[in-house]
Parts: sequence; C-alpha cells; structure tokens
Amino acid sequence: MQKITQHLVFDLVKKEEQRQKEMIGLIPSENHSSEAVRSVLSSCLSSKYAEGYPKRRYYEGNQVIDEIEILAQDRLKKLFGVPHVNVQPYSGSPANSAVEFALLEEGDTMMGLSLSSGGHLTHGHPKVTFSGRYFNSVQYGLDKNARIDYEQVRQLALKHKPKLIVAGTTAYPFILDFAKFAEIADEVGAYLLADISHITGLVVAGEHPSPVPYAHVIMSTTHKTFRGPRGAMIMVTERGLKKDADLADKIDKAVFPALQGGPHNETTASIAIAAEEASLEEFKTYGRQIRKNADALAAALQKEGLKLVGDGTENHLLLIDLTPFSEGFGTQVAFAMDVAGIYANRNTIPNEPCSPFYPSGIRIGTPLVTTRGMKEPEMTKIAQWIARVVDHIKGEQLPVEKEQRRIFLKEFKKRIVKDEVLLKIRAEVKEVASAFPLFTW
Ligand SMILES: Cc1ncc(COP(=O)(O)O)c(C=O)c1O
Repeated sequence: MQKITQHLVFDLVKKEEQRQKEMIGLIPSENHSSEAVRSVLSSCLSSKYAEGYPKRRYYEGNQVIDEIEILAQDRLKKLFGVPHVNVQPYSGSPANSAVEFALLEEGDTMMGLSLSSGGHLTHGHPKVTFSGRYFNSVQYGLDKNARIDYEQVRQLALKHKPKLIVAGTTAYPFILDFAKFAEIADEVGAYLLADISHITGLVVAGEHPSPVPYAHVIMSTTHKTFRGPRGAMIMVTERGLKKDADLADKIDKAVFPALQGGPHNETTASIAIAAEEASLEEFKTYGRQIRKNADALAAALQKEGLKLVGDGTENHLLLIDLTPFSEGFGTQVAFAMDVAGIYANRNTIPNEPCSPFYPSGIRIGTPLVTTRGMKEPEMTKIAQWIARVVDHIKGEQLPVEKEQRRIFLKEFKKRIVKDEVLLKIRAEVKEVASAFPLFTW
C-alpha cells in the first residue's frame, strides 16, 4: 500500500504558523485576516463550478452560489458607493489584465507609474509583462521630492494620447491625487483606472481620499489592507458608466470568458465576509492605527539615523533609503533582518543607483503588525531593532562585479544565520511578537 504522507504538509503549515507568530512581518502587502474570513476558504464552496455570473451560469446547481456572489457584490457596492462590482478575478494581476483587455486593443497606448518609482508590473512594465508587451506602454515617474510628477504625467499624456491611465502604486508612501489624475485623463479622453490594492483599507477607513468620484474603474486586491482572502475586485463607478455605458459589461466579459474560467466561490464568500467586517466602526479604528503606527515607525527610524525616501509617509508604507551606507545594500539588510526575526522586502529607491536585483532600499509597512494589535511603543522597538541590524552589518558591501556579488551573497547568507548579534535580536523579537496573536481586531 502506498504510504500516506499528507501529515508532512500539515506539519509544514504548523511550522509556518509558528514562524509567523514568532516573527514580525513588515511586508506592506501582507496581512492576517479574521477567522471568519479564513473559515469559508476550505468549505464545500470550492467544489462547485460556476462559470458565468449570477443567474447566468453555464453549470447547474448554482442557486446558493448565486446568493453568495450577489451578497458579496451588494456589500461592496454599498461600502464603496459604486454601481457595479466584479468579484471573480483570481488575484490582482489577472484583474489588471482584465481591465486592460477590456479597454484596450493590442498596440494601444497605456500609461502607468514605472516599477522603479513604485508602480506595479501590471501597470505596463516593459518587455517582461503582458501589459508591457501587448500595449504601447508609457511610464511616468517621480519628482525630486519622490512624489508623482503630475506635470510629467500631463505632458506625457498630451504627447502620447493614452487610452488608459493607471493611478496606482505598490511602493509609494504618499497620498495619490486622484482628482489630478482625472483632470489629465479627461484632457486626453483616457479611461482612468485606480489600482488601490495597497490602500483599500485606508480608503474604507477614511484615511486616504477615495478614487470613487474620479476614476472610471477601480481595481483592488482583497488581501492587503482590506484583510480579506487572496483575490481581487473590479469596480465600475458612476463616472465610468457616464463615460461608457457598456463599461461594466466590457469588464465582466474580460474577466469571463476572456481571461478566466470558473470563479473561486470560496473566495467570493470570504470577500463577502471581509466586506462586512470593513463596514464596521472598528475597521475605521484599525485604519487610523495603521497610519499612527506608520508615522511612529517613520519618526523612530529617523531618530535612529535612518533615511526615508521622501522623508516619511502619508499611508501605511515606508521606504528606507540605504544609500548612505552603500549602494545595493537592501539585499544584505533584508537577509539580516530576516535572521533577526523581522521580515521585509528589498526594494528599489527612486533613481536607484544599483539595480532592481540588488536594490538600495527596504520596503516596510504597518498593516500586519497593526492587525496583531501592536501600537506606537512596539513601532519604536521595531525601529531600534532595524537600526541595530543595519549598524551591525554596515561594512558588508556588495562587490562591483556580478559573479562576485552572487558568491558574496551566498557566503554572507550562510554566515549570518549563525551571527550572535542577529540571533540575540531575534530572541528579543520573538518575546515581543509571541505576545501578540496573529489577529486581534
Ligand atoms: C498595486 C498592485 N496591483 C496589483 C498587484 C497584483 O496582485 P497579485 O499579487 O494578487 O496578483 C499588486 C500586488 O502586490 C499591487 O501591489
């Protein structure tokens, strides 16, 4: 008889849970969701095929699935004040591809923030992505204060006449001026897509201006500050329908049948639960605390002598600029922080002097630690731990030559897992982190 080894997977899940509990997660796109949100993900809903949309399915037996999808749509429509929502995209990247597929023909021009300035791959990053290869992608950037250069956006739009402008970011610590984007889009007759994946929770909580009065289409992942399951939603606004009466239909057809098959009903149900949680007063408090924590973390890091891109944050996210130590230092710091019990990700900084693979920054954020119940005193501690890590490894510079870099990092990684200073910090982190459950709100 074949040996059953499924316990190996369960053991690994337990191990991962332990890791998450004992460490401090600062990746701004990650979060923990409530037990209710998670509970339906492994339910019988995942066994059902439901290609199509409520009341228009290609499979029978979808009476209950229809009720669930309509509930998710209705709750989101009410929460955001929009007339149409599609909750079927499998995740953020397929959702952006669906919007682009719905609104553009191959070779049409679209504009988005460049990856190195804090934009997302799906916003037209050249060569390697669907959006960068199938459309004529024009990328805008930042001004000298690390803010979006709206005058450049306008000039590029006037010159290239895009059909679609994307206002959205994945590594940008400041408020997005949706009104300005809308003005530019209107000037050239473009659709405006607001990709609010990172900031949805802040928008719902009133901590970031809403794109609803300005954008034609809004895309958001559901698993970041929104604290739902891994998934995405595409909303069409009143303004969008005014510009194009067929917009909702175009979006729906792009999701299914153009790009996807059967929706993940368990995710739809989980989104419906997250939407209700986000409508509660307590979610506003959560959003407020994300911002307070981000400001506290920024102030504490600066007090420790670390430099922040743009000198601070207006949302949930911060970028530490490590160029005062050495170019391309982000990789070593991310590796060493991980050993010290704090996980983040290396990231390019504006005008990156090294390379996207060996960037000079670290991207951190407060959604996840806030969900765990951490507040300003913990932010001060986190900043001190990060500063100790940076100080401890500050001499570990990347060699200039490519092959040498690879060898250096391999050796560095091997060496630091046994580093006593980092392991001492890890023990301190573990003590604090273990006192905060993964989900407290
Ligand atoms: C702004 C933005 N859009 C889209 C995505 C893509 O989402 P996913 O990773 O779920 O495909 C991300 C993911 O980080 C994002 O930050």
